[in-house]
Amino acid sequence: MKNRVDVLHGVNLDQLGRRDPEVYGGGALSQLEGCVKGFATELGLDVTFWQTNHEGEYCERLHIASERADGLILNPGAWTHYSYAIRDALELSGLPAVEVHLSEVDSRDDWRRKSVIRDLCVGRVQGKGVDGYRDALELLKADFGS
Ligand code: DQA
Repeated sequence: MKNRVDVLHGVNLDQLGRRDPEVYGGGALSQLEGCVKGFATELGLDVTFWQTNHEGEYCERLHIASERADGLILNPGAWTHYSYAIRDALELSGLPAVEVHLSEVDSRDDWRRKSVIRDLCVGRVQGKGVDGYRDALELLKADFGS
């Protein structure tokens, strides 16, 4: 039974507690991970977390993703909007992935409306803060069962 989920945080997500609380909620990344761990336990999923500020490292993590996980939750931060390198690496992973954004990217700056990974993902959640990760876990769980 598939149940392993890797949550891959991208650029600047490590600074969450210092970013605009009106937009991102004010909690630190470690707090977010604690909540997501709880959601995963409730859903019977085994979750691991990883973060980098380096695009190439994010790609390399995607290269080995299928050895470690059955599905991915990706919040690549600003890379979402322009990194074709991450898009190619995600495609290579062959894993089901859900794109998550804490903020409602479609209602912010024009440049945030574009996602270069969107069509490769089985789902997309935005603007729901930490709770969006619960939705993403549920989407992956449904995908594992299909
Ligand atoms: C973000 C939205 C991105 O546009 C932004 O660059 C981030 C965080 C979010 O979670 O809302 O760094 O992915």
